[in-house]
Amino acid sequence: MLKPRESIASLSPCHSPIVGRDGLSLDLNESMAGCSPRVLARLRSLSAAEISLYPEREVGERLIANFLGVAPEQVLLTNGMDEALSLLFTTYLGAGDELLFADPTFVMYPMLGEALGAKVVRLQSGEDLALPVANLLARISPRTRVIAIANPNNPTGLVAQRADLLKIAEAAPDAAVLVDEAYVEFCGETLLPDLARHPNLFVARTFSKAYGLAGLRLGVLTGAAEQISYLRRFSLPFNVNSVVLACLEEALADQTFVRDHVAQVKQGRERLARLFDELGLHFWPSQTNFVLVRIGASAKRFVESMRRRGVLVRDSSGNPGCEGCVRITVGTPSQMDGVLQAIRETIAESRR
Ligand SMILES: Cc1ncc(COP(=O)(O)O)c(C=O)c1O
Repeated sequence: MLKPRESIASLSPCHSPIVGRDGLSLDLNESMAGCSPRVLARLRSLSAAEISLYPEREVGERLIANFLGVAPEQVLLTNGMDEALSLLFTTYLGAGDELLFADPTFVMYPMLGEALGAKVVRLQSGEDLALPVANLLARISPRTRVIAIANPNNPTGLVAQRADLLKIAEAAPDAAVLVDEAYVEFCGETLLPDLARHPNLFVARTFSKAYGLAGLRLGVLTGAAEQISYLRRFSLPFNVNSVVLACLEEALADQTFVRDHVAQVKQGRERLARLFDELGLHFWPSQTNFVLVRIGASAKRFVESMRRRGVLVRDSSGNPGCEGCVRITVGTPSQMDGVLQAIRETIAESRR
């Protein structure tokens, strides 16, 4: 009988995080501001030939390299950052090799590690949910081949110190150290300038968040040219579609859109923070487009009650260390008026 590899068969069934979007989607950290009008205009001007011909990823890689200030050989474009993670993990993690990360973090890391048959080494952050740097350093072993760190982190929104991340990269020269900068635009701190001095360091980016292009799927992996050349060897040549490649120049050019969106998100997360303070709810100071808040034992009911009020938020209780926590994406200013009201009502209802 046909059987998949054991590491695939033993994975838990993957459930799409999208379950009937019957409300304002503040559960997946997408942009609620849409995307740049310049991108929309470019989409509307697409020619038939731009769609019927295979895409030229290299043109996009040169644009991104120029934008990020690295060499084109250091850039691999991918079908969303998820694909970058998959390629990176497949390149360095063999069966029995160790994938190291700290919980709570992005749920794709353990899933990909397990699929590859790697030994998934998960450390737990303390109460503050900050990156447990000393524990990570202590747990690096000769078998550690990938260390994954989201910075800022999802679901906490917290940022680690750049010096700590570099310490980790230096302590594990035989491991690929991935700094996942999916939310970098909302925080401003990047390790890109450190790539030159750390040949085992990778920085990944996405157009799904601040650029509002989650549906078009575009991710970026940067690292030492030699390492990126290994990933390029087996990345599918047409992994990135011609539609998003055609829009890339406009997306990068419209930094005003990105800046305005980021400014709005920062105000929105401040409003959430003030409300949580007022309601006496513990939350983590976020440098992203979402905020994690501890609701407590009634977290599930909170999510349901928010849904009834037309707002979808994410129950993060399943993420280790986040029991009773809910993650809320920041919406536009007018959406936030309703969201804050819905939170107030929901909490009042639960305290009655
Ligand atoms: C930390 C982190 N990394 C990567 C991704 C995946 O991004 P993409 O849409 O580019 O696959 C996400 C998406 O939520 C994320 O939160």
